[in-house]
Amino acid sequence: MKKQTMQAIILAAGKSSRFNTGNTKLSFTLCGQEMIAYPAKLLSAMNVPMTLVVGFQQETIKDIIKKYAIEKTTFVEQEKQLGTGHALMCSQHTWTEDHILVLNGDIPLITHDVINALCTHHTTHDAAVSFITTYSSDNSAEGLGRVIKKDNTIEIIEARNCTTEDFTQLPLNAGIYLFNRQFLETTLLSLTPNEKTGEIYITDLIKYASDKKLTVTTINASFDNVRGVNTLKELWAAEHIKRSELLTYWMNKGVRFAAALNVCLDLDIEIGAGTFIGTGAILLNGTRIGKNCIINAFSYISNTTIHDNVEIKPHSAICDSLIHQGCQVGPFAHLNKSIIQDNVIIGNFIEVKNSTIGEDKTIYFACLGGEMGSENSNHTVQ
Ligand code: UD1
Ligand code: MG
Repeated sequence: MKKQTMQAIILAAGKSSRFNTGNTKLSFTLCGQEMIAYPAKLLSAMNVPMTLVVGFQQETIKDIIKKYAIEKTTFVEQEKQLGTGHALMCSQHTWTEDHILVLNGDIPLITHDVINALCTHHTTHDAAVSFITTYSSDNSAEGLGRVIKKDNTIEIIEARNCTTEDFTQLPLNAGIYLFNRQFLETTLLSLTPNEKTGEIYITDLIKYASDKKLTVTTINASFDNVRGVNTLKELWAAEHIKRSELLTYWMNKGVRFAAALNVCLDLDIEIGAGTFIGTGAILLNGTRIGKNCIINAFSYISNTTIHDNVEIKPHSAICDSLIHQGCQVGPFAHLNKSIIQDNVIIGNFIEVKNSTIGEDKTIYFACLGGEMGSENSNHTVQ
C-alpha cells in the first residue's frame, strides 16, 4: 500500500477577544517561548509540512515563526475572522497530502505522542475524520465543545449551544482533528454559519461525516496535554504545567531548588548537576549555569554563561555576560555585557557594564563609603 502522507493546518487567525489584552494570545510566552511556536516547532520536529492560517496581527505571528527559523511553513490569510471552519476553508488551496491534520493554535502543551496516536488510530480505521477528546472538571474546560455520541451518531456541540442537562459529564473536543483530504474537499464547502453566532464551525464537519455514515473515530488524551488557552488565567495554568515539567527535568539532572514553586525557568536554559537555585530566582533564555554553583534568592539571570563553582549572591541582576569559574557576585550586583575572569569577587552593590574584570588577577569588591545615596557611594576598590 502507498505510504500515507500528512500535512498540517494551524488555525492562528483569531482575535483573542477573551484575552482582553488587545494583542493576539498566540504571541504570549510560556516559559519564554511564544504560544504559537509550541505546535509549530513540534510539527517541524516531526517533519510535517504546515500552513498557518493568519489574520489578526498576522505580522506578529509571521515574525515569531521567522525568529525560530521553522522550516516547511507557509501562511494563508483569513481576512475576516468568521470562525474555525472558515479559517480552514481559507487554506484549501494548499492541500496536497492524503491527510490534513488541523490544530488550534492555542494548545501549547500538545505532544508528539498525542499526534502520533491520532495518526495511527486514523489510518488503522481508515477514517474520514478522527479527533481528540478529553475529560476535565477544571473550570477552564467549561467553554469547550462537548462530544455527543448516541445511536451510532457523533457530533460536537459548543458549550454555549449545548442543551443536554448533564453536559458537564460529556467528553470534550480538544480542537485537534485529522481529516482524509477527499472527505474535506467534498464536505467543507457545505458548512454553513451557526444560527446563533454567525460563525462557521469546523466542528460541524463531525456531524456531516456521521450523518453520511462515514467512519469517525476519536481517541482520548490527557487534558493537560491538550488544554486550550483562551484567557490569561488559562495561560497562567498552562505555563505552570510547563514550568513543572522543566523543574522535574532539572531535578532529575541533580539540580536542587530551594522553593521550586517560586522559581521562574525558561525553556532554553541549562543547569549543571549539584547546583542550587534559591527562591525567587529568574533564569531566562540563553542562560547556561555550570556544576556546583549557588544561585541565591531573587537573582535575575538572562542570556548569561556561568561556569562551575560560582556563587551568585541574592538580588543580583546579570544579563548577556560570561562569568568564569570560582567567582562570587553580589549581593545586589548588576552585570551587563561583561566578562568576569576566574575566581573574581564582585561585591555588593557593584555595577559592571561592557567590561572585562579580573584579567590582572585582582579582586574587585564594593565598599560603601561616603554618604548613603550620594553618587560616589559605590566604589570599586582593589
Ligand atoms: C474551539 C472549538 C471547541 C473546542 C476548543 C478546544 C470550534 C467552533 N470550537 O473552541 O469545540 O472544544 O476549540 O480548545 O472550533 N481561529 C481562527 N479564525 C477564526 C476563529 C478562530 O484562525 O475565525 C483560531 C484561533 O486563533 C485559535 C483557534 O482557531 O487558535 C481556536 O479558536 P478559539 O476561539 O480559541 O476556539 P474555542 O472557543 O477555544
Ligand atoms: Mg481556544
